[in-house]
Amino acid sequence: MVKRIRLKGVIEELTFTELSRAERALVKAARQAIKLSYSPYSSFRVGAAVGLEDGTIVPGANQENASYGLTVCAERTALWTAQNLGRGAEVRTIAVTGGPAGDLATPQESPISPCGACRQVIVEFEHITGQPITLLLDSLGGPLYRVIGIEAILPLPFRPHRLAGR
Ligand code: THU
Repeated sequence: MVKRIRLKGVIEELTFTELSRAERALVKAARQAIKLSYSPYSSFRVGAAVGLEDGTIVPGANQENASYGLTVCAERTALWTAQNLGRGAEVRTIAVTGGPAGDLATPQESPISPCGACRQVIVEFEHITGQPITLLLDSLGGPLYRVIGIEAILPLPFRPHRLAGR
């Protein structure tokens, strides 16, 4: 008998003013972090901001390379910066925003959404922290998505506990 397995997770669509004060600060920091983007090849500028348990904000932006495949997304630069500060276990939230360099003044059609590689890295941070991570996906003035736990946007993830001894 075929068994249907329901995927978990809810995505909330909300406006900037409906976010909590801490969430608004994080989205603002992600918008600021767009300035740190090094994206001469795609001209697509992405800012991220990781929120730690005590409210500390760690920014990141996409970093490109003439050898295109070496590019690292904003989400991973921010998460790994937190990890390199010795604070990976304190990561609770990540805000992401951005758009084409020439048009950062216009809200995007829909909120930006992390690539598959970044989703997998967020899985690792849920392992490190032992809790779901909240994602705030921004559209630069239009609606936002709030996602609690990476599984909502990465169903059936490969989690580290699959590996021997984890
Ligand atoms: N990029 C990010 O930084 N985050 C995403 O969620 C999607 C894509 C970057 C990678 C590259 O520098 C540019 O956007 C275009 O793909």
